[in-house]
Amino acid sequence: MVAVVVCALGQATPPGALGAEVAHACSSLSQVASRRHWFWGSSFDRQALNDAAFVQLVKTHASVLVPENALKWTVVNPVPGIRDLSDFTAIEQRFGPSGMRFRGHPLVWHEQLPEWLETATPETLREHLRQHITWLVGVHRGRIHSWDVVNEPLAHDGQGLRASLWLNALGPDYIAEALRWARAADPDAQLVINDYGLEGDDPVSLLKRQSLLQLVRELQSQGAPLDAIGLQAHLHASAHGPTFHSLAAFLAELRGLGLKIVVTELDVNDQDLLDTVAGRDQRIAEIYRDFLMVLLAEPAVEGIMQWGLSDRYSWLNHEKPRRDHTPQRPLPFDRDLQPKAAFEAICAVLALPKVVERSTQ
Ligand code: XIL
Repeated sequence: MVAVVVCALGQATPPGALGAEVAHACSSLSQVASRRHWFWGSSFDRQALNDAAFVQLVKTHASVLVPENALKWTVVNPVPGIRDLSDFTAIEQRFGPSGMRFRGHPLVWHEQLPEWLETATPETLREHLRQHITWLVGVHRGRIHSWDVVNEPLAHDGQGLRASLWLNALGPDYIAEALRWARAADPDAQLVINDYGLEGDDPVSLLKRQSLLQLVRELQSQGAPLDAIGLQAHLHASAHGPTFHSLAAFLAELRGLGLKIVVTELDVNDQDLLDTVAGRDQRIAEIYRDFLMVLLAEPAVEGIMQWGLSDRYSWLNHEKPRRDHTPQRPLPFDRDLQPKAAFEAICAVLALPKVVERSTQ
């Protein structure tokens, strides 16, 4: 049985071929993930709250939600003196009673910042950041168990830190300070540095990993509180990529530094796939399979968050549109909330017998 399933997941047999049998085994992704000691989660944007069918899909398949925009600085503090948590509160009220857990995202980022912040002097900027973190983490203490404290601190080209508003004004210490302020505001919350472009074998990803490892070592030598690394995992599909041959060794290095690993925003951008819809779905499913197979073998991984569950609300449709104007197909469920080959591939990996069983942590 073990050999058969592993074989079915191998290169020779395309995901999707397992069909209805596997899909049936996965009536809930979060339930089947929990058997691997993983959570399965999703981002959720306030705009989708009135979509009852989608809300039901999320309740069925996710056990952790992260607000897609509701806790971003522009939303919660658009002008000085105005603090607005209504978007997140609405999401929490809808899902909290059924036992959903919440991640927080993001405390420090270079995007979706209010204009008024960008004209602050370095000294006031530091104070604004301290107050922002202290307030946002403190007010959700005990309700948000994990925070993306610093989002995307690494340079896009993989070389060192990103030249953001924060780095330019406050220097590299802003990262350690943000972590300390977050820890003080909620000592029990998991503190995460979250970034993209760390998963594949391409040269920029390899460089970016080195920059991340160096950052982690510096933070640890300063005693800064850091619990986990978030891999956004916005994977970019091509006919033969991405590949993940070097990923296991990188994850093991993070574990060696005492860190947990969370996949925080998993989706597959199929902007560059020129195939038929069925062909694109097949390729996307293979990428999910290849990626998750590596993750599943790494004991430091705690779970997977996706940036949405259905193509209906994917950010990629407005931010990375396809040249042929057809919708992107990045997530396990299509725009009609029907499972695709990606769902079957995810399900097949999660439902694998204990071939790649996690060793004790
Ligand atoms: C995206 C949201 O999905 C969009 O709705 C918004 O317009 C822009 O931000 N990495 C991140 C997320 O860390 O916060 C981004 O979310 C997607 C990329």
